[in-house]
This record gives sequence, C-alpha cells and structure tokens, in this order.
Amino acid sequence: TPTAHAAMRGLAFTAIPPVAATVDDFVVPSGFQWAPIIRWGDPILAGAPEFDINNQTPEAQSLQFGYNNDYLDIIELQGGGGRHGLLVTNHEYTNPGIMFPPAANEAERLQQLRITMAAHGLAVVELARDKRGRPWSYLRSSDYNRRITASTPFRLTGPAAGQDMMKTQDDPEGTSVLGTFGNCAGGTTPWGTILSGEENFNNYFRSSGATAGQKRYGLSSSPSTYGWEAIEPRFDAVANPGYVNEPNRFGYIVEIDPLDPSATPVKHTAMGRMKHEGANVTVAGDGRVVAYMGDDERFDYLYKFVSHKTFRTGNSVKARAHNKTILESGDLYVARFSGNSPAAEITGTGALPTDGAFDGSGQWIPLTLNGASAVPGFTVEEVLVHTRLAADAVGATKMDRPEDVQPHPTTGKVYVACTNNTQRGTFGKAGVDEVNPRTVNRDGHVIEITEAQNDATATSFGWLILLVCGDPAVSGSAYFAGFPVDQVSPISCPDNLAFDKAGNLWISTDGQPGTIGYNDGLFRVGLDGANRGRVDQFLAVPREAETCGPVIRDDEGMVYVAVQHPGEDGSFASPHSYFPDYTTMSGGALVAAPRPSVVQVWQV
Ligand code: FEO
Ligand code: CA
Ligand code: CA
Ligand code: CA
Repeated sequence: TPTAHAAMRGLAFTAIPPVAATVDDFVVPSGFQWAPIIRWGDPILAGAPEFDINNQTPEAQSLQFGYNNDYLDIIELQGGGGRHGLLVTNHEYTNPGIMFPPAANEAERLQQLRITMAAHGLAVVELARDKRGRPWSYLRSSDYNRRITASTPFRLTGPAAGQDMMKTQDDPEGTSVLGTFGNCAGGTTPWGTILSGEENFNNYFRSSGATAGQKRYGLSSSPSTYGWEAIEPRFDAVANPGYVNEPNRFGYIVEIDPLDPSATPVKHTAMGRMKHEGANVTVAGDGRVVAYMGDDERFDYLYKFVSHKTFRTGNSVKARAHNKTILESGDLYVARFSGNSPAAEITGTGALPTDGAFDGSGQWIPLTLNGASAVPGFTVEEVLVHTRLAADAVGATKMDRPEDVQPHPTTGKVYVACTNNTQRGTFGKAGVDEVNPRTVNRDGHVIEITEAQNDATATSFGWLILLVCGDPAVSGSAYFAGFPVDQVSPISCPDNLAFDKAGNLWISTDGQPGTIGYNDGLFRVGLDGANRGRVDQFLAVPREAETCGPVIRDDEGMVYVAVQHPGEDGSFASPHSYFPDYTTMSGGALVAAPRPSVVQVWQV
C-alpha cells in the first residue's frame, strides 16, 4: 500500500486507494478539497440562459459551456497577479442518450441534433480568484469568453489548403471549413495558442467508403453515429456528391488564440490528417518548433512535425503574429521502432527479455520534406490528406493506440501513452514486437523516447518502456521501471499526460472500469532515482467517467481535471451518475443528468 511521500518531490499527498467502478464519487486525498469550476450548460456568453435540462435549445447551447470537456489548460493572464486566468477546453463529443429525454417527434429529434452540434468544439472562459492557490470562479460575461462549435468558420493552412481534395460545393476555393468536432487532447504552445486534435471525425460522416483513403479512416456508407446528415447535407457525401471531399477537411490539428476572441481558428494541413489525439510542442535548440502527435487507433502510428520557421521570443504583436504561422509549414515524420532483444524473447506475455528491458532504437521516417512529398507515388497533398496511407507505404511501426505524446519540459525526453490494444496478436492482426510487447494488450503501456543528442529535430532516437500498466495484484506482467510492484497504485489505459513543476509525470486514464475494475483517475509517476516508476493515485473520477486534461500546479497546491462522460452507460430516465451536484433537483427543476465538468482540486 502506498504511503506518505517524504522522498517524492512536488505535491505532498498520500495516494488514495483505488475506487470501485460502481462508486459515483469524485475522490481526492485527505487534505484536499474539490469543486467544479464550470459544468455543461453553464452560461458563458451574453444572453445565455441558465442551464435547464428540460428546456434546451441550440441557441442556448451555443452560448453555454459545451459537453464532454477533454483537453484543458488554465492560463494565467499577464499582469493579473495570479488572480485572473483563462480556461480553455475541448468539447469532444456528446452522449445524447443521457443529455435528452427520448424525442417525442421528428421535429424534436432534429432539434436535439442541432443542440449536439452546438455542444461540440471548444470553449474559452475567463476565471478569477482571490489569490494563487485558491479556487477559481468563472466570469459569466467576459470579453474573452468564446464558444467554437461544429459550425464555426475555420481557415485551412499549409500545402493541402486550396487543393482539389479540399474543395466542396460550398467552398470551391478549398480553404474555409465550418466547424471542428471530435476534439480530444491538445497542447498549449510557447506563444500562448491552443492546439487541439480532431480525433474520431469519421463518426460524423456518411461517405461511400469505397476508396482506399476512406476505408483507412473508417469512413463508410452506414448512417453516421451522430446523425447530423439529417440536418446538414454536407455530412452525407453519398447522397450529396458536391460534398464528397467534406470529410477530407477534418482530422487535423487546429490552433486557436484564446487571447483574441475575434481571430479565425485554423486547421494545419502540414501536420497531417489522422485521428489526432493531440499535439505537444517544444522549441528545439536551433529555434525550430517540434510537435509530437499520436494517431489514436489500434495499430496506428506516432508522428513528429518539425517546423521550417523558428520561434520568436517575446510577446510583441509582431512576434505573436509570426509564431502563429509557424505550424503552417514543416517536415512531417512517422516513427519506426527497432527492439534490441531477440524476437524469440518477446513472447507476448509481457515477460521482460533477458537484457531486462523492452528497449531499442528508432528512426523518424520523413513523409514530407521542404514542402514536397517524401513518399514515392504520393503528391504532397495526398500525403497530408491520406497521411495513414503514406505512413503505411514507408513501413512505420504499428502501435497500441498512441494517445498523448509529450516532451518533458526540462529533460526533453518524450513520453508516449499507448492506451491499450486488445487486438494485438489476435487472428489476422499484427503480432507483438519489443515496443508493443503484449498480446491482447488490455492495460496499455508508457514509452520513454530519448532523441539523438537530445535534439528534438533529430531523425533517430533511443527508447524504452517505462510502465507496463496493470494491477500488479492480479497481473504478472505489470512493470513499473523496476519499482517494487507491491508499493504502487494499480493503473490501466493511460491516456493524457502532464508534468508538474518538480519534473514528475502525471497520467490520467480512460477505461479502467472495463479492465482492472476501478474508476478512472489521475496518477503521479516518479521519473528519477529511487522513485522512478513509483505510481501514486491522486484522484478518482465518478462512475463511468474518463479523466482528461490534467493540469498540475504543484507549486500552488492545485490540480485540475476535465471529467468527461460521467454516467455514460445510463439513460436520461435512469442516470448512473449525479456528478457534480449530486442532486436531482436544482431551483425546483429536475436535474436528472450528470454534467461533464472541469474540476479544481486545492490543498486545504
Ligand atoms: Fe478521445 Fe484518444 O481519446
Ligand atoms: Ca531489450
Ligand atoms: Ca484521449
Ligand atoms: Ca481516450
């Protein structure tokens, strides 16, 4: 059982025990308190009504906080003395079955679809508090507050912008797209903008599914998961041939400037099209910007983008304007890993090979170089729109669902969360290799990459597996960098990553209830010395929720998470969660639904 952390740097806490998956509670260590900052439906723009679960409209939702918050950052405003900040979050997707009562008629069904469109996208919300280390409140009417939805105009940048593959009947220039959705994780750039990954965009379209490109992204002629083709023809590329390219305009890294509510958000085609989990950037020694990115699908790839332009320091208008163009051009690479142990020693059970480590070397294989295709048989726009096909062609390594990929702010080492892959080594699927060493990888693993000469622009690297996740009480393959397995918190399905000021890694999880039987949570991982591999659980989210967007401010004694899809297996009539208010009544109205929320945790 984990105990007090005298030897750990950073936040002082005693790990919580794992929380059973039936518990509808948000759990923090003793000495800490939690409260939501903002919840689904809270009003943020002028004219927004109070949230009323029994009287929702698309107009109200577009002025209120969206659904299923995922990526999160809390950015302190310059000169605010720590008392003013901006909350930025993604609203990845919706759970209509718990948001609405069953539609009584077709008009009501279409109205609910329009509400879900307005509940997607991103939000920017100004925050205020008394002083650092104290809880925030959100400001209901701030000029910074903003909603971006599935209908907000975006500008395409980079080599694929304006190409034929991007043109539709509404946008013959191929440069302007309405909306963003499926926005999963993300990253905050050194110049203060937010990057967000368009992940499962295929679920929003009906497409012929006939071409290699459509198939590779899971686009099919079945009705879409979200059903928006019933309200906008662009979501049905089969019935409406003028929109055959509409799905090509989703699956990008988007960039928004939270300090400029009037700025048109952009989608960067130079960073490739995939089911982008997110993007995290670092500035290399020569000033070029490097972004690490995962394509979250079983057997998909790990990518790196190296900009052509260099980062300019300072907050001048000119420097910021320049920095906001950095991600428009650069070289795109995909990772190929090699193990250093004999293949016969990678048995699929997770047993370590005789050299005592899953480790080896790797190459970043170019897909584009200097604005041109580096893949024979592909034009540059084909590489950037059908990036998965290009990566297939160069023999990239098929990974166990790479989610967050994040460079450590001081050591430069890059951490990759491979969340799980229950198809690894099954019939007809790729078998194990040293970097994906478990057959039917239920619990996932975390890889540590060291770039050659610790240069983020390098084309080769070394790697090792830091954590082979699982519950050591029942899994013999769980491995925590050699740390005693009877002294760690069980962990499964690593998804989002963060670092604290003390240099520790933090991991939030997505899927533990279905694997090790515990609610998802947030965990701290030591990276150095005797504490390397030590995993301590800091919090647990309520029933059927996923822990997203961790932000760790250990210097202030504060931690923030986005609680996504609480109670998602319930129904409107029979909720599985009452998070975060834990009441079924509010102001006399029935509030029979859980509300995805951003939560702050502070030391008391
Ligand atoms: Fe939306 Fe890869 O999690
Ligand atoms: Ca080895
Ligand atoms: Ca995720
Ligand atoms: Ca996830």
